[in-house]
Amino acid sequence: MMATLSMSAFSVRAHARSTLNAGARNPVKATMTTRAPRLPATRARGASLVANAAFTPAGAKIAGVGMAVPAQYLTNEDLSELVDTNDEWIRTRTGIGKRHVISGDESLTSLAADASKKALEMAGVDAEDIDLILLSTSSPDDLFGSACTVQAAIGAKGALAVDLTAACSGFVVGVVNGIHFIRGGEYKNVLVIGADVLSRYVDWRDRGTCILFGDGCGAMVLTSTPNPDDCCLLGFDMHSDGTGNHNLTAKFTAEIGAETDGKSKPCAAGEAAPSGRGAFCNIGMNGQEVFKFAVRTVPDTVSKSLDKAGMTSEDIDFLVMHQANQRIIDTAAKRFGLGPEKVVSNIAKYGNTSAGSVPIAMAEAVEEGRIKEGDIVATAGFGAGLTWASAILRW
Ligand code: ACO
Repeated sequence: MMATLSMSAFSVRAHARSTLNAGARNPVKATMTTRAPRLPATRARGASLVANAAFTPAGAKIAGVGMAVPAQYLTNEDLSELVDTNDEWIRTRTGIGKRHVISGDESLTSLAADASKKALEMAGVDAEDIDLILLSTSSPDDLFGSACTVQAAIGAKGALAVDLTAACSGFVVGVVNGIHFIRGGEYKNVLVIGADVLSRYVDWRDRGTCILFGDGCGAMVLTSTPNPDDCCLLGFDMHSDGTGNHNLTAKFTAEIGAETDGKSKPCAAGEAAPSGRGAFCNIGMNGQEVFKFAVRTVPDTVSKSLDKAGMTSEDIDFLVMHQANQRIIDTAAKRFGLGPEKVVSNIAKYGNTSAGSVPIAMAEAVEEGRIKEGDIVATAGFGAGLTWASAILRW
């Protein structure tokens, strides 16, 4: 994996520079044009194993996108019956009008499977030809992850399916990872899914958080191309800072049952949890701190990705950010001088769907005919962890 990462990062930068030099968006010949020869692995005395040619570099492209949201939704008026809030406050402070929530037989797996099938159809790729599924989520149906149940639901028999947790940055991190796997030459088709059902962890009595979150999922199919210079990832930048973790959490608790009259109680450090049910607390958030973190880090990370791509904000055709608050989206758009025609926002319809928000926004913008082949899309996620990440993609 490390070999893949470092080699791919090199070729991404090489390609981005050559694209800039040519002043065009079409793939151009970059410095890395030949396939690495397959040399035998060698072990020098005192050195670790050197597998210097395990990978045959390939290009990568975005082949399809899809999205799915639950059937039921809650409007701001609905929430005003649960907590002391109102439509005007929610719209002004967040831009949110409604949010979808799972019910009945719906689950994270069912949403992810629906979105994935649409993405595969657009890509013209058979599920059996998927090599790798990366499911970015913080709210799997099973503690051990949901990627494998999604794999079974769509019939991707040949794939390795794994979960990836980076909260609302998860989809961007997943796409960067997926493209690196393809760039290494070992994987041809990678399905990256961003999905969350945070309604399961919302305290519907807390007006500071219950107005924000909705459930939903988006998916993207990435496919290899024979030319290693032809890569849809032009630049990326990813970070985390665990010292800010306390600002946004849904912590594990041990529910100890009879010993505590059925009330759940946090598991103190060093305390052995007797057999009982484990659970996660409701989402706790310091909204103002997360807001400040977002307006500081998003412009910074997008600037760094643009730099690595050898581009400026003038090259951006569309900004597709994590949909957490319209004011955060507006701040970033203003910083880059982007008008509403270049900004994708659907927060009014879906609220904050965490890892689902970026791919849902991308899939809708493609479906509406806004994002088209060849467009330069700047994307960014931020959230719990704390994590933040961005990428410049050529569609
Ligand atoms: N309705 C009415 N009043 C409210 C509500 C509500 N739903 N919520 C808070 N208020 C009140 C507060 O009690 C406060 O009242 P006071 O002045 O009498 O004390 C007042 O409104 C202002 O509260 P603030 O918290 O200062 O409101 P703010 O403008 O910061 O907006 C919000 C709150 C929307 C949560 C904002 O801080 C925000 O969006 N933060 C970022 C959240 C975010 O991006 N999260 C990403 C999570 S992604 C992930 O990883 C899961």
